[in-house]
Amino acid sequence: MCLTRFRSVVLVLLLNVILTANASTPGATSQAKPGCQSRCGDTIIPYPFGTGGDCNITEEFFITCNTSFTPNKPFLTNSNIQVLNISVDGQLRILSDGSYDCYDTSGKRDWYYYWIRFSEFSINNTKNRFTAIGCDTYALVEGFQGQRYSTGCLSLCSNITDVSNGSCSGIGCCQTSIPKGVRSYSITLQSYDNHSAVLPENPCSYAFVAENDNYTFSTSDIRGSDFQDRKFPVTLDWKIGNTGCNEAKMDTLNFGCKENSDCVDSESSGYICKCFEGYQGNPYLSNGCQDIDECETLSPCNVTARCTNLPGTYNCSCPVGYEGDGTKNGTGCSLPNKDQSKRFPLIDVALGTIIGLLGLLLGIVLLYWMLWRKQVLKLREEYFQQNGGILLREQLSRRQGYREDVKVFAAEELEKATNNYHESRILGQGGQGTVYKGILGDNRVVAIKKSIIGDPSQVEQFINEIMVLYQINHRNVVKLLGCCLETQVPLLVYEYITNGTLFHHLHNDGDDNDAPSLPWEARLRIATETAEALSYLHSAASVPVIHRDIKLANILLDDNYIAKVSDFGASRLIPSDEAQITTMVQGTFGYLDPEYMVTSLLTEKSDVYSFGVVLIELLTGQKVVCFKRSEEQRVLAMYFVSSMKEDRLLEVLDPRVLNDENVEQLKEVAGLARRCVRVKGEDRPTMKEVAHELAGLQAMPKHPWSESKLMGEEAEYLLGDLNSTYYDGATSSSMGYDSINNKITFELDRAR
Ligand SMILES: *[C@@H]1O[C@H](CO)[C@@H](O)[C@H](O)[C@H]1NC(C)=O
Ligand SMILES: *[C@@H]1O[C@H](CO)[C@@H](O)[C@H](O)[C@H]1NC(C)=O
Ligand SMILES: *[C@@H]1O[C@H](CO)[C@@H](O)[C@H](O)[C@H]1NC(C)=O
Ligand SMILES: *[C@@H]1O[C@H](CO)[C@@H](O)[C@H](O)[C@H]1NC(C)=O
Ligand SMILES: *[C@@H]1O[C@H](CO)[C@@H](O)[C@H](O)[C@H]1NC(C)=O
Ligand SMILES: *[C@@H]1O[C@H](CO)[C@@H](O)[C@H](O)[C@H]1NC(C)=O
Ligand SMILES: *[C@@H]1O[C@H](CO)[C@@H](O)[C@H](O)[C@H]1NC(C)=O
Ligand SMILES: *[C@@H]1O[C@H](CO)[C@@H](O)[C@H](O)[C@H]1NC(C)=O
Ligand SMILES: *[C@@H]1O[C@H](CO)[C@@H](O)[C@H](O)[C@H]1NC(C)=O
Ligand SMILES: *[C@@H]1O[C@H](CO)[C@@H](O)[C@H](O)[C@H]1NC(C)=O
Ligand SMILES: *[C@@H]1O[C@H](CO)[C@@H](O)[C@H](O)[C@H]1NC(C)=O
Repeated sequence: MCLTRFRSVVLVLLLNVILTANASTPGATSQAKPGCQSRCGDTIIPYPFGTGGDCNITEEFFITCNTSFTPNKPFLTNSNIQVLNISVDGQLRILSDGSYDCYDTSGKRDWYYYWIRFSEFSINNTKNRFTAIGCDTYALVEGFQGQRYSTGCLSLCSNITDVSNGSCSGIGCCQTSIPKGVRSYSITLQSYDNHSAVLPENPCSYAFVAENDNYTFSTSDIRGSDFQDRKFPVTLDWKIGNTGCNEAKMDTLNFGCKENSDCVDSESSGYICKCFEGYQGNPYLSNGCQDIDECETLSPCNVTARCTNLPGTYNCSCPVGYEGDGTKNGTGCSLPNKDQSKRFPLIDVALGTIIGLLGLLLGIVLLYWMLWRKQVLKLREEYFQQNGGILLREQLSRRQGYREDVKVFAAEELEKATNNYHESRILGQGGQGTVYKGILGDNRVVAIKKSIIGDPSQVEQFINEIMVLYQINHRNVVKLLGCCLETQVPLLVYEYITNGTLFHHLHNDGDDNDAPSLPWEARLRIATETAEALSYLHSAASVPVIHRDIKLANILLDDNYIAKVSDFGASRLIPSDEAQITTMVQGTFGYLDPEYMVTSLLTEKSDVYSFGVVLIELLTGQKVVCFKRSEEQRVLAMYFVSSMKEDRLLEVLDPRVLNDENVEQLKEVAGLARRCVRVKGEDRPTMKEVAHELAGLQAMPKHPWSESKLMGEEAEYLLGDLNSTYYDGATSSSMGYDSINNKITFELDRAR
């Protein structure tokens, strides 16, 4: 009786041992639900994914395994989207196509526009990016992320020899990031000239979304045609359900996270599960998260100690009779000193020893601290040099008499100010970096711009921005307070402009449709202030500056809706003896001067064009590129000019601001905007003329020509005429513009 019981106990113990040994071997356990297909070809299918029935958690996680391929190929749901790899950490890699648009010398066109859509999964914006290749190419990627988005890039080259391997900076190849949380994209390609200028070297434009490290530009791709069949891996983020953890936990029956796992809210709605620390496996399966046997895998204890694996952790204990610290970095286990009683009379010696040891310890700590400090300082100096600190010092020493209040901040100060660059402090993200809100020690609120990557070309741009802003002091230009070069990526510190961008105020789409739109008077005043700032940059600043990226999103508004021009990352200083310089074409699609795009010659008139587009946006309240408009009307400037030509100006003006009182003023501004976006730069007015005219209009009485029915060409002619008389120096004018203009001139002078 007693014997049998003993035997069964041994048996149970043995069984236990076997079970644990099996479970603790990583990879040996299936990642799929019991009884479900666990792989398709080379790809492992972990639950919640599965091949039908209860094997997949919902329909979105259904995988079709097509057996007509060897090896078999998995596809997402019933689509033709091939799956490469599934990770239980919440990511999924798939294969996608690209778009192409090809021409031959006879003018024949062969094109294919690709689109892809996921019902639940989203494209990871940090792991993937959008690339376009071609010499006469503008590529757009658009789709949904809750609301419609569209972005894209432009790649041109006038001579194929300009193209260089590995460089995707707009000559032959361009890249841009995609927005966060996107669930679909379609890629369209357009050319300016049907590739006629670059044939036969570059017959095709290509564009695709791919994982960051999958594509490196090679000059042979400009000529190549093998792209048409190429496929690109894309990483997606998946998540369970549409509710956060708290809500999902209530539904205990369907809750996805099993034993020994945590629920983590996904960035969009939904959640994913993660095994506890010390556990590994599939958190979506019951008993999926298995304890890691640290004693086996890490050997975390000193050889003299005994390692015990515990659920989620381990214990290093000394054998019976021994004592000490058994951990790896510990002192090891040893027999306790049995001569304790002998030490008693020698208490003074012991005390002395303890004090000596303490002193030694203090010395060691101090030494360590000093070494660490030295290391940190060395690293900072390295970053400083890498970030162009030397270049900046040189530049600053060469220029004298500029603002001296630009401060060089310490890395810690900015870290503290932004709560260690916490996500909640992000004000905006753009092509060149992320902007954080910071609160300095003296409670001053500032905006801190952090460049995305510290590659050498960006460093130049960064130093450029500092140098441009360093010498500018104008009430309508965002003020640079300082910079920090000690961090891996350089940082710029600006005054904090409280009220967001003009873009946000004009197109406050989505969140609050009821918000009143910006009234016309405010729009006109903001336009005037922006024009004055640009006029100052072009002429009044000690070295003329071309901004190069004027757009609504770069005009900030403060509490009083005063305009502040920002983002000088692309700006150029123009030495006074050169009226124009040749540069790489850079800017924002829709605002980009067509003449500059074709010639690459940068002049002040390019800013005038972009400003003209801003004026048109303020007049019409429409977006600069809008896919709701038909193809010819897609680009706002062209749409606006053709509407004016056809005498349909009143139809395109923003109905939210148009009324009987201000219709004439709007027409005047429309005439001015139209002159600003003329195709030839020399036909456009200068920024100074624009600023004068806007200021004049702002002061114009409400009903100056109440009887007048002037429209379109006629009004423009009159305005143009009036303008030229003024600038020819005539003092008499039937409209009484002189005095106003003179006053504005003074104001400009006062503004430095
Ligand atoms: C999938 O990813 C895992 C982990 O990154 C890797 O070990 C495995 O080889 C990949 N499988 C395929 C087919 O790429
Ligand atoms: C798994 O996917 C298939 C195919 O879409 C579907 O019929 C089935 O209901 C899904 N399983 C569950 C549990 O939703
Ligand atoms: C498998 O792939 C072949 C070839 O692409 C296709 O004809 C077939 O319909 C696919 N089978 C399933 C079940 O999707
Ligand atoms: C994108 O992938 C990275 C790296 O795997 C991850 O840290 C990040 O959370 C992912 N983004 C989203 C929105 O899930
Ligand atoms: C392109 O550049 C090369 C070298 O810079 C030059 O020899 C060639 O004439 C240029 N071709 C054209 C069409 O401008
Ligand atoms: C480009 O080709 C299309 C027809 O494929 C033609 O309608 C268009 O006028 C051409 N554009 C230019 C600039 O040559
Ligand atoms: C890019 O992805 C494709 C498809 O998975 C693969 O064949 C190719 O080797 C990858 N290229 C690089 C450079 O990783
Ligand atoms: C760029 O790389 C390709 C192969 O990757 C090579 O054929 C070509 O000659 C290279 N071009 C230049 C300009 O180095
Ligand atoms: C480790 O094991 C020793 C001896 O079994 C025990 O006294 C100690 O409390 C354990 N420590 C932990 C953290 O479990
Ligand atoms: C032991 O020290 C090394 C390096 O000093 C450290 O990386 C490791 O985490 C330490 N191990 C433990 C168990 O504390
Ligand atoms: C274990 O402890 C002893 C001191 O008792 C030490 O000399 C030895 O280096 C330690 N071993 C390891 C692997 O850390």
